Amino acid sequence: MLYGICYVSTLRSPLDSHELRELFVFCATKNIAENVSGVLLHNSGNFLQYFEGDELKIKELFYSKIKKDTRHKNIITLFEKEINDLYFTGYKAGFTSIMEDNQIGSLRSYLNLLKYLDSSEMEALSKTVNSFLSAK
Ligand SMILES: Cc1cc2nc3c(=O)[nH]c(=O)nc-3n(C[C@H](O)[C@H](O)[C@H](O)COP(=O)(O)O)c2cc1C
Repeated sequence: MLYGICYVSTLRSPLDSHELRELFVFCATKNIAENVSGVLLHNSGNFLQYFEGDELKIKELFYSKIKKDTRHKNIITLFEKEINDLYFTGYKAGFTSIMEDNQIGSLRSYLNLLKYLDSSEMEALSKTVNSFLSAK
């Protein structure tokens, strides 16, 4: 079964741009190796992440690792559910961490395309990403 989780969270204490980059590179490398696709965004001390893949793997990653990670707090799950398709395998290398403003346009376009799939979760994700980034 395929599963997707989307959450927001807040940095516990500020990370400098080097530490943030390290976290993002770690997540992208690990997820691509583990067949976890999705996207991780950071904006003004807040994270928004959507990730998808094999149900057991996704739940394990979220509940045993990400939720216990002390670098962030106030983890709010926006949705978690079984999905019919992997939506992000076709985007970049499958998992993207976005910290550069110039990557946001391309993500927005991709989400706009996904919105037209008959998928309520992607429509929700598209709206959430847009409001998450609206401060930019
Ligand atoms: C905001 C945030 C998002 C994260 N996302 C992922 C992720 O998508 N994949 C991942 O493997 N680790 C992610 N991590 C890191 C995990 O919480 C944890 O540090 C890591 O999985 C430990 O891996 P290890 O047990 O193999 O050393 C994230 C951490 C934070 C703070």
